[in-house]
Amino acid sequence: MKKIKVLNSEAGYSLAADVYDENENYLNSFEQGELIPLLGALEDKKVLDVGAGTGRLSLPLANRGARVTALDVSPKMLEALFVKCSDRSSPITTIIGDAENLPFENESFDIVAAAFLIVHLKDPTRFFDEAYRVLKDGGILAVTNINQKDPPQVKTKGGEIIIESFYHRPEKVKEILESLAFGIEEEIFVREKDVWVNQIIVAKK
Ligand SMILES: C[S@@+](CC[C@H](N)C(=O)[O-])C[C@H]1O[C@@H](n2cnc3c(N)ncnc32)[C@H](O)[C@@H]1O
Repeated sequence: MKKIKVLNSEAGYSLAADVYDENENYLNSFEQGELIPLLGALEDKKVLDVGAGTGRLSLPLANRGARVTALDVSPKMLEALFVKCSDRSSPITTIIGDAENLPFENESFDIVAAAFLIVHLKDPTRFFDEAYRVLKDGGILAVTNINQKDPPQVKTKGGEIIIESFYHRPEKVKEILESLAFGIEEEIFVREKDVWVNQIIVAKK
């Protein structure tokens, strides 16, 4: 039997970037339209989208008037985002970087958003700490935590791969945020039948 390669995010998403958008509807189903309304008015807000990927979240945020910076560890994913937004009058700023070491000054953003990111972080503490640092006082972090114990196999041109992923218990995610002085403003569980599939948290600095 052929062994499936398990790759880290940078290597895995370099291969998966070409096919990522084929799953957009599936990914949206984990949010069921709940995430963006939780962010409130977006006009002129400085938003950092961490693990922005191909822009599934960055683009609708920019369309609502936010000034979006999209950061990702995978240049290939950001290239796909860049192509989609290059003809905009106010293009999204893209930056290659690591969620655990954000290349921004303290208190730079009104909102930090991270959809489907922490599933790729062994421990989200360092990212949450960085999000806290780059948020302005009163700024918000919006984070999603997918209920995924077994990472899916992804079909790419380079063969089938698994991208390294980690399951996080919802109570633990909240506990870490509170230990870093975030206040939990909203917590929503998106459910399918009786099972939660995604935890969405909005936390205030
Ligand atoms: C499942 S995709 C989500 C993309 C997008 N946020 C969305 O909701 O469609 C996860 C993204 O997180 C990025 N990523 C994983 N670990 C990262 C890290 N440590 N720093 C920055 N980006 C990371 C991956 O490269 C990938 O683009």
